[in-house]
Amino acid sequence: MGISNSLTITQPDDWHLHLRSGELLQRVVPYSAQHFGRAIVMPNLQPPVVRTVDALNYREQIFAALPAGSHFKPLMTLYMTEQTDAEDVRAGYLSGDVAAVKLYPAGATTNSDAGVKDLTKIYPVLAVMEEIGMPFLVHGEVVDADVDIFDREAMFIETKLIPVRKQFPKLKIVFEHLTTKEGVDYVQSCAENTAATVTPHHLVINRNALLVGGIKPHYYCLPVAKRESHRLALRAAVTSGDQRFFLGTDSAPHFDGAKEAACGCAGIFNVANTVSVVAEVFEQENALDKLEGFLSLHGPAFYGLPVNTAKLQLTRNEAALAAPAKLVLPDGEITHFDPMMDLHWDVSDISTAD
Ligand code: NCD
Ligand code: ZN
Repeated sequence: MGISNSLTITQPDDWHLHLRSGELLQRVVPYSAQHFGRAIVMPNLQPPVVRTVDALNYREQIFAALPAGSHFKPLMTLYMTEQTDAEDVRAGYLSGDVAAVKLYPAGATTNSDAGVKDLTKIYPVLAVMEEIGMPFLVHGEVVDADVDIFDREAMFIETKLIPVRKQFPKLKIVFEHLTTKEGVDYVQSCAENTAATVTPHHLVINRNALLVGGIKPHYYCLPVAKRESHRLALRAAVTSGDQRFFLGTDSAPHFDGAKEAACGCAGIFNVANTVSVVAEVFEQENALDKLEGFLSLHGPAFYGLPVNTAKLQLTRNEAALAAPAKLVLPDGEITHFDPMMDLHWDVSDISTAD
């Protein structure tokens, strides 16, 4: 059977998104609101979103930046510190204002300085989260200077995640932006309570994109893209229909000047073409029947939320889609993710009717 030219799926959600603040927030949030029903909004602002009241303030800024009439729903997260107040976390979750808490190992990535050095310090908070069923979102990389950057995810699983899992068997854990075969194997080895987000770019690029033919800062993100065998393991996992894997774009805009620098920032701004990129990947893997699960169904199931009622229609164009134009702000420009392949699937309609 040939590939149909049109596909209607439940409206997707983005389970890992950086919206930033101020004018940048105003300019990037419409891209998310255009396609996605909800997004888990990362708390790594400066200063970070630590307490529930901070999350509420940030949510107001996001609402104010949304295009008129948008139904996009930001799901707020708190930034775990060694001083995080377990009772504030509990109250934020039980009131419905906060959806999850995010772990940044101190020094692992952008704005992670206030993160956690000693995981045992947060055990009292994890105990409360386990009790109330609140997801713990993990940036899974060790930061030890003597661990090779390409091994940091696998090492995190062995030395950090397995002990936490043993201590808190019922804690809901999302391994964010999974990049390795070891990570896929680990998540698949867990009977329940463990899931992972996967980004569009880690399904498309390996480390050659970053390093061959000159250094390409727009392909630099954390966790850094790994070798090809890992990319293939990620593609196999997400296209298998396994419910433990769902989309988190990790869309992370930085000004071009901050990326094209002697010490360039980590982060890929991909949200404008995420749906097209992921659809292309699933088509390449003959798995378009699994696309809706990855984009729209597995995430809500893990978070215990209803799926979106709106439907999104995708249409396949014979001609390649035009790449999105750079985002231009007074303070600089932002380059969109270039998947280095033609894209054909475009969002042709979003309807709230069934
Ligand atoms: C993110 C950012 O810029 O905030 N960067 C990235 O490379 N993914 C932080 C993160 O998620 O690690
Ligand atoms: Zn991120």
